[in-house]
Amino acid sequence: MEESGQPTATTESVNAVLSRIDPDRQRPRDVLAAERLTLRFGAKAILSDVDVAFPRGTITALIGPTGSGKSTFLRTLNRMNDKVHGFRHEGDVLLEGESIWARGQDLLTVRRRIGMLFQRPNPFPMSIKDNVVAGVRAHRIARGKQLDVVAETRLREVGLWDAVKDRLNDSPYRLSGGQQQLLCLARALAVGPEVLLLDEPTSALDPLSTEAVENLMRAMTPALTIVVVTHNLGQARRVSDSTMFFYDGRLVEHGPTGALFASPRQPDTERYVNGLMG
Ligand SMILES: Nc1ncnc2c1ncn2[C@@H]1O[C@H](COP(=O)(O)OP(=O)(O)OP(=O)(O)O)[C@@H](O)[C@H]1O
Ligand SMILES: [Mg+2]
Repeated sequence: MEESGQPTATTESVNAVLSRIDPDRQRPRDVLAAERLTLRFGAKAILSDVDVAFPRGTITALIGPTGSGKSTFLRTLNRMNDKVHGFRHEGDVLLEGESIWARGQDLLTVRRRIGMLFQRPNPFPMSIKDNVVAGVRAHRIARGKQLDVVAETRLREVGLWDAVKDRLNDSPYRLSGGQQQLLCLARALAVGPEVLLLDEPTSALDPLSTEAVENLMRAMTPALTIVVVTHNLGQARRVSDSTMFFYDGRLVEHGPTGALFASPRQPDTERYVNGLMG
């Protein structure tokens, strides 16, 4: 954005207008960006002054010890913390160049464009098929028979179709944990998000289900931009293009995944990626 030499605010509003008229014409390279983002619960700063951009079609891994603010950061990116008691933010998060907190920005639309998957699969108390199309129905993206097509397409996409095609009207709670997580992924994908936020999506899964989810993450980019929190450093190395290391309330280091693991620039990063810090 700086290349144009115009003030940022002007450039952003031009981008926002153009992207509404012709979404493909003037899309910023970074689908999502945090600018000088500081996050607090009450008086306590959880993360200070984070500047980061998420280029379109890439996977970014967020790593760091427990309590370092990874989930708080991730949840802020689609406004999941807005209603949490004591939460405050300074700075901004830009989606396609426009603040996610901008006036006129609809929360449900932000969540449709920036989907999320949690550590524990959380199917809704409804049938398998209704789970997949829940968001599609709510956003009136499809209806009637179209919903069957959406359900089948998304279940095939995540590799669940054969396992569930004869029990689409059954409860999802009899599926295995890995299958439930894939179902939640199908549900998240069904509304056509631009960004997917994943908070330790495989930590409750066995190695085979983990591999299935990792393969899907790679297959889903470049169409989708993914931000994934993981304690599994092998997973960060396997799937991500770039890695952010959080520690002690700061984004300590951010760079291409290969370089960050092979030759970290900061001593804390080095200790963490070499298993010397919990
Ligand atoms: N709702 C909340 N109210 C107050 N403090 C909170 C809240 N949620 C998180 N925190 C605090 O924010 C800090 C960061 O927590 P966060 O859950 O973001 O860490 P994390 O890096 O995701 O940790 P983990 O790896 O264990 O999931 C912690 O000190 C935590 O106690
Ligand atoms: Mg967490």
